[in-house]
Amino acid sequence: PRVPPPQNEPILSYAPGSAERATLQSTLQRLASERLDIPLLIGGKAVRTGKTDEVRMPHKHAHVLATLHEADASHVEQAIQNALAVKDEWSRMPFQERAAIFLRAAELLASRYRPILNAATMLGQSKTAHQAEIDAACEAIDFLRFNVSFAEQLLAQQPVSGPQTWNLTDYRPLDGFVFAVAPFNFTAIALNLSTAPALMGNVVLFKPSSTSAFSSWFLMELLREAGLPDGVINFLPGDGPTIGNVALAHPQLGGVHFTGSTPTFQSMWRTIGENIQRYKQYPRLVGETGGKDFVFAHASAVDDLDALATAIVRGGYEYQGQKCSAASRVYIPESIWPKLKPRLQEFIAELRVGDVSDFRNFMGAVIDEKSFKKVSSYIELAKQGGAEATIVAGGETDRSEGWFVKPTLVQLTNPRHRIMQEEIFAPLVGVHVYPDARFEETLRECDQAATYALTGAVFARDRKALSTASRELRHAAGNFYINDKPTGAVVGQQPFGGSRASGTNDKAGSMLNLVRWTSPRTIKETF
Ligand code: SER
Repeated sequence: PRVPPPQNEPILSYAPGSAERATLQSTLQRLASERLDIPLLIGGKAVRTGKTDEVRMPHKHAHVLATLHEADASHVEQAIQNALAVKDEWSRMPFQERAAIFLRAAELLASRYRPILNAATMLGQSKTAHQAEIDAACEAIDFLRFNVSFAEQLLAQQPVSGPQTWNLTDYRPLDGFVFAVAPFNFTAIALNLSTAPALMGNVVLFKPSSTSAFSSWFLMELLREAGLPDGVINFLPGDGPTIGNVALAHPQLGGVHFTGSTPTFQSMWRTIGENIQRYKQYPRLVGETGGKDFVFAHASAVDDLDALATAIVRGGYEYQGQKCSAASRVYIPESIWPKLKPRLQEFIAELRVGDVSDFRNFMGAVIDEKSFKKVSSYIELAKQGGAEATIVAGGETDRSEGWFVKPTLVQLTNPRHRIMQEEIFAPLVGVHVYPDARFEETLRECDQAATYALTGAVFARDRKALSTASRELRHAAGNFYINDKPTGAVVGQQPFGGSRASGTNDKAGSMLNLVRWTSPRTIKETF
């Protein structure tokens, strides 16, 4: 390959006394004390609309981190015009020159921007230092570097030619602009949603999540400093429907790169369906839309209960369970539950919840009041559940200073309980204990219980059990983990995405995603 061969960015440990911890701590203090004013970016120009929202710290909700300006319909229209105006120049730029901008961004992020993006992600999204590091630093850097390499491999794919003819594939960008809509939970996803289409020569309208606009703003600064030309990625915070109604109905919509909730993606798809005759082309729809991810244990997992307990705890509670990949329903055979249950209780009791600036805490707060109320209602449902639901661990919440929810484990006799079926996006895990003899039936139950199919993990030492599970759950997860937690896919190693209600499965962190941002032209020349 001609581009630098990508390697996954090593994870820094932020150990006590380390230089990286000191830098991160001083950056946390600095960012927490400046009240940032975040404008829109249209054609490279900062636009302050005056219609503003406050960005607050989830773990200290009285603390306002930033004022966020919000776009109205006219700003969306302006952004589309600005993007389209630079499209030809951007898409005709040689690939190497475009790629160099993103590789430069990766280097800036690996060095000077690393504490900034990490601190912004900790303060604005309530991630611990480790969770911020694997997201805003490592995964973000990996997306930038690996996408360049995937794009190069893709562009090298050419048809065969003969002596009289020369056949070529011209990897054009999509006709029109790409609308990138990001979730709050991963800074790296926000970066990938906007930069993957841009790398392939597209121009982008990027709508960050209002609750994570703080870190997204620093992504914009990073890209600008790396040399991204004005107008290629336009930054449009604001109300989803207000922005979406203009962007999605626009005749020049070329594609949608979305991560967020299933209802939002379905509503976007409906809007596009209703407008289908207005477009110059059929818009590409790429969406990753949540999960109800499982951990399924076979009796032979008894050989390593620590690994199983660790997968449930890390998969279920890291980042407060707010990963679309988070473990949220668990199936355990009766034979191992009496040993696993006290181990889980002990483990969960040790998890510290609190302000993420205190590096001893394992969890911060859930993202906002809406999320806090939602998980509280499910905890209430579990408490009122009578014989059907038993709280095994946690169950407490505290909203006095931040949106804190203790890691909670609920045992459910009914495998179709709402807690086993609905995406809650919080540190609440349901456990169903099944008779060992009903292994295969319970696998089928796991396959059928949820409409989602994003991630899942199976724990077993018995090879036959693993192969049965892999077969029965073939369509239940786009990312299937054997003897490991269902979270933490690494760019280039585990291409990420799911099917069914979880999305279009256009694997982020692989060439399969970049394929979606090109509209190839086949050229045949006869000599
Ligand atoms: N890629 C993340 C994970 O695997 C989720 O978005 O956990």
